[in-house]
Amino acid sequence: MWIYEKKLQYPVKVSKCDPMMAKFLIEQYGGADGELAAALRYLNQRYTIPDKIIGLLTDIGTEEFAHLEMIATMVYKLTKDATAEEMKEAGLGAHYADHDKALFYHNAAGAPFTATYIQAKGDPITDLYEDIAAEEKARATYQWLINMSDDPDIIDSLSFLREREIVHSQRFREAVEILKEDQGRKKVF
Ligand SMILES: [Fe+2]
Repeated sequence: MWIYEKKLQYPVKVSKCDPMMAKFLIEQYGGADGELAAALRYLNQRYTIPDKIIGLLTDIGTEEFAHLEMIATMVYKLTKDATAEEMKEAGLGAHYADHDKALFYHNAAGAPFTATYIQAKGDPITDLYEDIAAEEKARATYQWLINMSDDPDIIDSLSFLREREIVHSQRFREAVEILKEDQGRKKVF
């Protein structure tokens, strides 16, 4: 079970209405390497991973939902004062026609979220390599998003999220080493 704390993991401020940035940021909401994909990937893999790694997947999977909240807050704040015309000009006309300002799980190009973004192979090392790759892809995406923003507040929040992807990648790399060590130990001839 989860206990909910009614605050964001890291404060999210937005200096100006910027629906174009929201269109790009939604990549980390419902995109292949986004926070929803990350949370679902890790929490689902827990059932077939060795016991000593379950806590790590729970910790990181839970944190990804906290990141999802941060992205949702940013997208909401970036679009809440936009007119229909401004949404259209930002390339969000199709989104507006279907959802108004509501958030929806799709990527920056508008493709809806799909479970095919995530894998669960059942082989612990394979799954952890997928997780490391996912974290590195998310880190790169945050960098590309930072490169496209001129809003110091958005850049601050995105820099925090990029940093967390680096920490997650390192922790998954450590988990691979722990499992490799265990596998090595079993081979006693
Ligand atoms: Fe992560």
